Amino acid sequence: MVISFPRLNEAHIRPMCQDDLQAVSAIEAATFPNPWSIDALAFELNQNPFCAAFIIELSSEVAGYAFVWVMYDQSHLINIAVAKPFQGHGHGERLLRHVMRYARANGALEMHLEVRETNLAAIALYEKYGFAVRGRQASYYQDGTPALFMQASLLPESEAG
Ligand SMILES: CC(C)(COP(=O)(O)OP(=O)(O)OC[C@H]1O[C@@H](n2cnc3c(N)ncnc32)[C@H](O)[C@@H]1OP(=O)(O)O)[C@@H](O)C(=O)NCCC(=O)NCCS
Repeated sequence: MVISFPRLNEAHIRPMCQDDLQAVSAIEAATFPNPWSIDALAFELNQNPFCAAFIIELSSEVAGYAFVWVMYDQSHLINIAVAKPFQGHGHGERLLRHVMRYARANGALEMHLEVRETNLAAIALYEKYGFAVRGRQASYYQDGTPALFMQASLLPESEAG
């Protein structure tokens, strides 16, 4: 019998747990101009019954995370980030694919999200996975940046990769 172990540098996605919160909060603070507080992250993780949260880890280090709300046939990607040193290696893409699969498996037919109009990396990622712009709101964020509202179908054929 051959037993195979994951390679040390292999990325692994699993549900977030309480012990991950400090690392998630540190990535959140280093990534976003208006980061969620650790209490807000903890609320989503522990108290929001519609929320599922995942992390991607490499050699036991949290490299990124995603929070998704699934409400009946609708889902909303409320937060996704990869720590700066780990960006550009496919981890954001793996996380997005994972939450899309999770939402679909839990009954969602669509996923929605909002993104800064200036966030070209995130917009390119979302478009790669079938998201399209459905609306725009000027001065949506505190610093006056407009938001784009994007939506993707979660039908199986819409998921690339
Ligand atoms: C957006 C984010 C999650 C992408 O994660 P990542 O691990 O760096 O991205 P990946 O390596 O998985 O790239 C996947 C796709 O994203 C897009 N992308 C990623 N980085 C990009 C960049 N710098 N410029 C343009 N497109 C980019 C590309 O479409 C890429 O696919 P490709 O490699 O076939 O071109 C990451 O940049 C991040 O955490 N940014 C800060 C937080 C954030 O903006 N979150 C989204 C809020 S709405």
